Formats: sequence, C-alpha cells, structure tokens
Amino acid sequence: MIMKNLYQPFKVKIKKIEEHSSNVKLFRLASLKLSEGGFKKNKAGLVFEPGQFVLVSHFGYGEAPFGIASSPYQNKYVDLVIRRAGILTEALHQLKEGDEIFMRGPYGHGFPINFMSGKDVVMVTGGCGIPPIAALIEYIMANRDKFNRTYLIYGARAPADLLMKSKLKKWEKDIKIILTVDQPDKNWKGYVGMVSEMIREIRIDSLDAVAAMCGPGPMMDALEKILRPLGIADRRIFVNMERKMQCGIGKCQHCVVGDKYVCQDGPVFNFDQIDKSWD
Ligand SMILES: Cc1cc2nc3c(=O)[nH]c(=O)nc-3n(C[C@H](O)[C@H](O)[C@H](O)COP(=O)(O)OP(=O)(O)OC[C@H]3O[C@@H](n4cnc5c(N)ncnc54)[C@H](O)[C@@H]3O)c2cc1C
Ligand code: FES
Repeated sequence: MIMKNLYQPFKVKIKKIEEHSSNVKLFRLASLKLSEGGFKKNKAGLVFEPGQFVLVSHFGYGEAPFGIASSPYQNKYVDLVIRRAGILTEALHQLKEGDEIFMRGPYGHGFPINFMSGKDVVMVTGGCGIPPIAALIEYIMANRDKFNRTYLIYGARAPADLLMKSKLKKWEKDIKIILTVDQPDKNWKGYVGMVSEMIREIRIDSLDAVAAMCGPGPMMDALEKILRPLGIADRRIFVNMERKMQCGIGKCQHCVVGDKYVCQDGPVFNFDQIDKSWD
C-alpha cells in the first residue's frame, strides 16, 4: 500500500492579488492539483470545513499557517488573506500574479456546522481574524435556509483596516453586519470600540444561539461586552485559535496548549474546552 505523505506540499499559482489594507493582501491560489493535494469533497460536499487552515511555503522563506477565506464549495482556488507580519509574509507580499508557491492541507477541525445549523449565529471577529469567519459566512450564505438570525460583528483599528469590503457588501444582503473601529475618521457611521449598546441590535434566542469567534486579544473584550450579556453559554461559543505551528499534523508539539494540539484538535475549540488564554 502506498502511504500518502501528509507533509507533501503541492504547487499553486497566484491567480489574483488584491490589496485590502496597507499591510494585508488577498491571494487567490489555484492549482489543477488542489483536489490531489487533499481538497477532496467530503460527505457534506465541501472541499474543506470553514475554520480549517493550510500551510503555505515559499522557497527560502519558510512555511506558515493561514485560514482559508473562500467558499468551502470552491475547489478551483482558495483565497488567503495575509497580513505582513515577518519573514514569510513579507516575501509573499513581494510576489506578483502568475508566481508560484507551495501549499499543503487543509488541516485541523473547523466550525461545527452541523451543530450550528438551525440556530441563531453571532460571529465576532477583529483585525486579521476575518478569513475563517469569511469561509463560515460563505457556507451560511449557500445554506441560508438552514440558519436562523445571523450576525457578524467585525472590529478593526481604523476604517481603512477593515478587510474584505466587497464581500461585506455582498454578505449584508443576507446577514446583519455590525462594524466597529477604535479610531474613527470623519466619515465613520458605525460603532467606536466594543460598546455594550451593540447588543441592542442583536435579537437572538440566547438559549439556542451559537457564537463563532476569531481574532486577537481584544476578542476577550467582545466576549465580556457582547456574548456574555447576550447570554450565550461558553460551550456554545466556538473560537478559532492561532498558535505558532510547524508540522500542522500533531507531530512536533509546537502548537500545544494545555493537553490540546491546536493544529489537530483545533484550530476551532469550544470556549469551555480551552484555558481561556488568548494572545
Ligand atoms: C491556524 C492559523 C491560522 C492563521 N490564519 C492566518 C490568516 O488567515 N492570515 C494571516 O495573516 N495570518 C494568519 N495566521 C498567522 C500567521 O501564520 C503568522 O502571521 C505567520 O506565521 C507569520 O509568519 P512570518 O514568517 O511572516 O513571520 P515570522 O517572521 O515567523 O514572525 C513575525 C512575528 O509574528 C509572530 N508570529 C508568528 N506566527 C504567529 C502566529 N501563529 N500567531 C501570532 N503571531 C505569530 C512572531 O512571533 C513574530 O513576532 C494564522 C495562524 C494560525 C496558527
Ligand atoms: S504544529 Fe506540530 S504538533 Fe501542532
């Protein structure tokens, strides 16, 4: 029997690059081998679960994990939304459409879409945490009748830092989007900060609602000011955690938090399964 090499990356071509902010770009990556590389349809007809990630490498600059931002029904390409943070991401930001890099995955466990369906859904994200939430929204949009009231609360430092703006316009036809920034400009009409008045815009059945979160430290603020007052229990809050990774498949222990491997047991966890540290 030939064993599949789980570490084996495959080549992908950059089909499209969009500049989303001063330090974030969207990369559309395509390959005839996407399906051979692991992007095979599962029982739900998806090529990955919203919340799963891929490992991207560029020769000489290393490898890093990124959440998939495109629709889980799309197997011709994946969209990654990448913030310039260090060696690899700096090098990726220098690339042009037509250039080739490597990818492996998808890995990990995503959001529990079967458990979430039939319920009110509150999604909360900030900064560069939007990619896995974007894939979840694409799934909800494609199955709109299976979900009840759906909200996206999306925060950024300033209006110019809000990512995926054309998608936000598309999504707002079907879901309620609440935007918030810390440093508004003179044209800003949304909220400033994670303010508790936001919950007045949200109508949910708190005993049956679920929440999905992804983002940096300020997400704890959102949890205390929005999700707790809404009455959503910890076991119904699903968080997408970011930890430094190497192998991506539970072998190297780089991503261990408590008794969990973020790459394999996550990156999506029930909030009551994790140690509540959020960095
Ligand atoms: C499951 C998962 C999904 C992710 N999805 C995305 C995504 O969709 N878009 C995106 O832009 N980034 C995402 N990240 C973070 C991304 O992997 C890091 O920004 C990347 O590893 C930086 O690589 P680098 O070589 O450019 O930076 P490096 O030169 O390795 O480091 C630059 C700085 O970033 C810090 N850093 C490195 N890795 C991480 C990390 N995992 N979390 C926090 N800080 C880190 C380093 O400590 C250092 O301060 C994700 C991480 C995980 C674990
Ligand atoms: S990244 Fe190697 S065990 Fe998780």
